Amino acid sequence: MEVVITASPHAAGQVAADAIQRLLVGSTTPVLGLATGSSPLPIYRELIRRHQERGLSFATTTVFLLDEYVGSGPGRFDANRAFIQRELTAHVDLPRGALHGPDGAISNLDTAGATYELLLSDAGGIDLQILGIGSDGHIGFNEPGSSLASRTRLKTLTTETRNDNARFFGGQAEDVPRHVVTQGIGTVLDARHLILIATGEHKAEPVAKAIEGPVTAMVPASALQLHPHVTAIVDEPAASLLRRSTYYRDAFDHKPEWQHI
Ligand code: GLP
Repeated sequence: MEVVITASPHAAGQVAADAIQRLLVGSTTPVLGLATGSSPLPIYRELIRRHQERGLSFATTTVFLLDEYVGSGPGRFDANRAFIQRELTAHVDLPRGALHGPDGAISNLDTAGATYELLLSDAGGIDLQILGIGSDGHIGFNEPGSSLASRTRLKTLTTETRNDNARFFGGQAEDVPRHVVTQGIGTVLDARHLILIATGEHKAEPVAKAIEGPVTAMVPASALQLHPHVTAIVDEPAASLLRRSTYYRDAFDHKPEWQHI
């Protein structure tokens, strides 16, 4: 795993945006996996800027979401889709119909996981997947204890995650749906390049466990250690508990010119 330590969340967003830009420019049919939450926002702001100022185009891109809430009305079973539209896709030239997410409608739960897996494989899999990390070490909505081989399915959120995400539902944890449909850890590991972005001191502990701890279902993000191409982009506070940060900085500073993240 490559670990990139940046001076600010903005700089972390730029490093990730560089990789996305390289994919969008270099592929005729790029497939991008996107995450919700606060951590990826600097990436999305930078992509919008590059679209507006430099013409970076999403015209042939397909986007897949990591996860979606389950619910019975607008704003609940489509909260993550609405988030990505608001924070990114409404501001770039992604074609209508090119944004896909798991189906969180209660009536479709029996088939939602298998349907999404089929959609992903029909698209040829994800080229580059953006990931955040939950304070309990989750990726997507794979809470601790999730099978490291899991596929897209229904999950129940922990109280910790519902508290963390209350800010996206008007501040009340009771208003956060209890259930979600999420790509499994095995599904996430199928993407060809994974970029984990984490910023702020509150992420230092899950980041250290994910990057330097043992691989365990109790820290779902530690499964990234099993993937051949992962870039973890963390700002200094989020990197503060990493034991090998000197090495990570050294390796990044002396990266061969021809080698990109
Ligand atoms: C949610 C999302 C995750 C995200 C996590 C962290 O639970 N399902 O994909 O990584 O929140 O969010 P934040 O970046 O806001 O801390």
